[in-house]
Amino acid sequence: MKKTCAVILAAGKGTRMHSAAPKVLQRILGEPMLAYVLRAVKAAVNNEVFIVIGHGADSVQSAFSEESFVRQAEQKGTGDAVIRAMPAVKKGGFDSVLIVNGDAPLITADTLCSFVERAQSADVAFATIVLDEPGAYGRVVREPSGAVRAIVEAKDYSEDVYGRPSGEVNAGVYYVKTSVLEMLLPLLNCNNKSGEYYLTDIVTLAVEKSLSVVGVNCGADSGLFGVNTPFELSRSEDILREKRVEELLRAGVTVHLPQTVSVGPFSEVEAGAEIFGPCEIYGNSKISSGVKILSHCVLRNAIVSEYAEIKSFSHLEDVSVGAHAQVGPYARLRPGTVLEESSRVGNFVELKKSRLGAGAKANHLTYLGDAQIGSGTNIGAGTITCNYDGKNKFPTVIEENAFIGSNTALVAPVTVGKGATVGAGSVITKDIPDSMLGIGRAKQVNLSWKKK
Ligand code: UD1
Ligand code: CA
Repeated sequence: MKKTCAVILAAGKGTRMHSAAPKVLQRILGEPMLAYVLRAVKAAVNNEVFIVIGHGADSVQSAFSEESFVRQAEQKGTGDAVIRAMPAVKKGGFDSVLIVNGDAPLITADTLCSFVERAQSADVAFATIVLDEPGAYGRVVREPSGAVRAIVEAKDYSEDVYGRPSGEVNAGVYYVKTSVLEMLLPLLNCNNKSGEYYLTDIVTLAVEKSLSVVGVNCGADSGLFGVNTPFELSRSEDILREKRVEELLRAGVTVHLPQTVSVGPFSEVEAGAEIFGPCEIYGNSKISSGVKILSHCVLRNAIVSEYAEIKSFSHLEDVSVGAHAQVGPYARLRPGTVLEESSRVGNFVELKKSRLGAGAKANHLTYLGDAQIGSGTNIGAGTITCNYDGKNKFPTVIEENAFIGSNTALVAPVTVGKGATVGAGSVITKDIPDSMLGIGRAKQVNLSWKKK
């Protein structure tokens, strides 16, 4: 059987993005652009995928640490990028290669599969789309017979030589036999306006050698659009956002003001959940049935169980919220926070790496960091765990059914026992045994001081 691998070209700088970050790490719905391309390519090719990286290589590699990479030290063009990938392709014994530009986040596995199917018999195949305005895309030039003659980059196009452009452009997706790449890549040169080794020149070279070359028109709705500028990034994000929200609506999620709701491609929302826009749900979030997320919330990697309610203006990141729990408004749940079933976190409460037991409450103006709170415990307004001494972090343990009076500072490491109570306004530096009352504050004195 024919073995096909994939090569994703992701080494370019993305000068037109005007950003220090490599282009393929620009985010769309909270995920780097490359994640979309990779997902589609992996679904279409069940063999190895090699990603060519160069500009910002270390940051791309660490964002996708599970993947296989090839380095292109200098960005000398898309042809040079494929040359760098060839040792890996040959080592794997692949007969053909699907090459995809890393800057086409709207690409789908369906488009790639149907392209590959139509490309199978050719020596060199590439995907095309027809645009009203060919813009900066490479123009496809055909003979009057319809046979492909060349792909000519916008900068190098001359109407005198090639005639009026037809609107058919190169979409940046290629399927080429490995043996053909081995033969043609060494023949590339950089005699063009950009001074780069263009991958697209293999088309002319293949035609010259009478190999079979096809340009497969994939249609304007194929999602084969390159993202080169902030404008194009925003357009692509709009399209993907609308598509994702529509999927959720059709699957039975209630979405209010859907045009203001963003849900990332790897976040799941179950039927029966209710989301009020504007709101953002990103990363590997999972929102269960019966959950309500009110407006102005931002969730990233948040697992929210059945019937929990996240009220307006709450921010959640790397957290898990138990069933029937209530959060916010104006709550901030930072990484490592776990809220157990029916617990409550109210306004202006921040938790970091802390667990709130079942039915426990921290309703107002509180910071809980590195803290374990037992079930049924009540944390009074203005409670602060002093978890940091300027050098190290220390844990606070508050066992079940305790009651922490308002405006308490718990100086960690410290433990408050089961059923213990802390007097309001205390600074607690020593453990409080079970059921005891701990008070750590100056005793009140009432003095008469006004002249009669
Ligand atoms: C390229 C095509 C053009 C096509 C368009 C489709 C070439 C010469 N031109 O143009 O015909 O219409 O895509 O979107 O291929 N890259 C590398 N190494 C490099 C240069 C680029 O890995 O040295 C990567 C980039 O990261 C990017 C992809 O290759 O993901 C395409 O490069 P880009 O500079 O965006 O090419 P375009 O000018 O858009
Ligand atoms: Ca591009």
